[in-house]
Amino acid sequence: MKITLIPGDGIGPEVTNSARKIIDASGANIQWEVVEAGASVLEEHDSPLPDNVIDSIKKNKIALKGPITTPVGKGFRSVNVQLRQKLNLYANVRPVKSFDGLPSLHSNVDFIIVRENTEGLYAGIEHNIGEIAAESIRVITKEASDRISKFAFELAKNENRAKVTATHKANILKLSDGLFLKCAKECSSLYKDIEFEDIIVDAMSMKLVQSPQNYDVVVAPNLYGDILSDMGAGLVGGLGLIPGANIGDEAAVFEPVHGSAPDIAGKNIANPTATILSGIMLLKYIGEKDAAEKIETALLKIFKEGKYLTPDLGGNLSTEEFTNEVIRTLN
Ligand code: NAI
Repeated sequence: MKITLIPGDGIGPEVTNSARKIIDASGANIQWEVVEAGASVLEEHDSPLPDNVIDSIKKNKIALKGPITTPVGKGFRSVNVQLRQKLNLYANVRPVKSFDGLPSLHSNVDFIIVRENTEGLYAGIEHNIGEIAAESIRVITKEASDRISKFAFELAKNENRAKVTATHKANILKLSDGLFLKCAKECSSLYKDIEFEDIIVDAMSMKLVQSPQNYDVVVAPNLYGDILSDMGAGLVGGLGLIPGANIGDEAAVFEPVHGSAPDIAGKNIANPTATILSGIMLLKYIGEKDAAEKIETALLKIFKEGKYLTPDLGGNLSTEEFTNEVIRTLN
């Protein structure tokens, strides 16, 4: 099967190269179609997201993507947000899981954040009011809220999860988050076997830090889901460990939660685990279950042993050495 591979910016090429090598060594039947997006192609194509990238994903339906840099406060619009909107990748799935053997604030953590991926504050509708103010319009629609709620409950059902928690700020944003919450509540009535609760996002942040083991599937509007997933990463060992999937009806793009990490780019010390785990999600999605389980088993073994780790986890292996260790453990 042909899969689009977008190496991305910063540590992107290092971590995607690692995941690619490991997937190739796992025996999965995959051919890669490499296309470039991000700051590195801006000059050549006049756009950080050239048409051939979208065309390739539309054709292959599945992509593995490295992180892409977004300029702060100026410059081009986030390529990541554009991709999600252009391909209507409405569900952002981010599993937060602790691993035996790794340094972590909590153990036995295993919850999945389902983030609405197309609207909310990320609709990017902003304007200046002269020089004295700026306004951002936060769009929440019934259609997207129904769709993401259904996705979260279906995921809970398929993964045998007991509970869905909707998080919101409907006490203050009575109309927009009120609509999101109403849709989640209505959807919950169709899934009698799955417990449903809702929590205001500030309280949710505290509860997640104190007792993340109480959560199974957490569904959230765009911005809250984004923030809570980085927080989730902090609970279980850091951004190097959290994978993600952007899923729509026509395509799916798998990518780590972390960004391009310019502070460590090019140093061969980035942890490729989040991208490898994104690759495992991809393999499961396309039905390559044996290859996915093989890689997962190798990672769990390495983590449990605790000897072969990258610097973010207290080890001294380079990205490349860690990759080779995973490949050795596969065989
Ligand atoms: P970041 O996630 O790149 O880095 C935050 C911290 O975590 C840094 O100290 C970094 O070294 C560390 N870190 C991240 N990934 C790591 C890994 N695999 N191994 C070891 N350490 C790791 O977040 P930051 O610095 O806020 O963003 C950098 C750029 O990435 C920005 O331009 C941002 O817009 C972009 N970004 C892109 C995303 C995407 O493409 N999906 C997602 C998040 C940010």
